[in-house]
Amino acid sequence: MPVINRIADFHAEMKCWRRDLHAHPEMAFGERRTADFVATTLEGFGIEVRRGLAGTGVVGTLRAGSGKRAIGLRADMDALPIHEKTGCAHASTHDGVMHACGHDGHTAMLLGAARYLAETRNFDGTVHFIFQPAEENECGGQKMVEDGLFEQFPVEAVYGMHNWPGLPVGAFGVCTGPIMAADDKFEITITSRGAHAAMPHLGDDPIVAAGAMIGAIQTIVSRTADPQDELVVSITQLHGGSTWNIVPEEVVLRGTCRYFKPELRRLLDGALRRVVEGIAATHGVVAAFSFYKPIPPAVNAEGPTAAAIRAAAMVAGDENVRRDVAPSMGCEDFGFMLAARPGCYLWIGNGPIRDGVGLHSSRYDFNDEILPVGASYWSKLVETVLPRGI
Ligand code: NI
Repeated sequence: MPVINRIADFHAEMKCWRRDLHAHPEMAFGERRTADFVATTLEGFGIEVRRGLAGTGVVGTLRAGSGKRAIGLRADMDALPIHEKTGCAHASTHDGVMHACGHDGHTAMLLGAARYLAETRNFDGTVHFIFQPAEENECGGQKMVEDGLFEQFPVEAVYGMHNWPGLPVGAFGVCTGPIMAADDKFEITITSRGAHAAMPHLGDDPIVAAGAMIGAIQTIVSRTADPQDELVVSITQLHGGSTWNIVPEEVVLRGTCRYFKPELRRLLDGALRRVVEGIAATHGVVAAFSFYKPIPPAVNAEGPTAAAIRAAAMVAGDENVRRDVAPSMGCEDFGFMLAARPGCYLWIGNGPIRDGVGLHSSRYDFNDEILPVGASYWSKLVETVLPRGI
């Protein structure tokens, strides 16, 4: 596999960065040590650094030649609230926090590319290395966009990459159009007068109302949405009650909707409210419905996707770049950046899934073998999208 030789030379160093980050994971917006490591490392390469965008976000800027064009490359830095069970030497030293999604690897790969590009400057224009906080659940990507990421660091396109267990080492996967689903998390709070369990007629029952809502919500996909649209609605939390003989005064339901067509947000909003309000009225309870930090689908634009495929093929060989992968119903807050600027998000193979250990597993570990593959992809992308004049 033709990874860039110079990048292969410092593979061991990238591995040290990755393992150090893995041993010191930090959760959403708390990535202080990680951000400091990223900023200091970039500065060590002679790259101009801006800290503190969206709290702990870091942007490195590297210019070469006289070209006015600019692109952004983005990595995520945050970890998950998981107790690590890998047993490896570089396992998390922060109890209950773990890099179980490989963001440690994403950060190390982008730092590797920054090092190579700063050394060689074999491109014409500007590259912004975007290290974002809080990808998991807390919308750090949205915060960066709202805090003026693309006004302060204008780019014609923005690129993202995620490791993909199940895709072989040395392979890439991508598609034009949506690649990751929207994630519309929602919450329903049902309140009632409650009652003695033996005398329910003296009050109202939010548990029975919740049961009816859970059943009715299942019909949104089967009866309300177009059967040809991909859509999942899952109820994932049900909280209520304290003991055997009290009908509680409150029940909370939470869940998530996953889909690819942005216009489905309106349909879901209408359908969920209709079900919640209608059933609440039927049962004589009060129900409040709201979305929580919804994330749009990650939609790949045609031009940047073609550029990403070209760069990936230079590293992995044409036959190892899958151009028409089925999009994932998982979500990715890079969707906020892709909604603001055209771009491409692609998957880099992390190797086979063994014993069911995939992303977000307490036994997952990023595959260090792919560090030079990812860093080479980023570097080739910059060199081909911003070519130096002959
Ligand atoms: Ni992730």
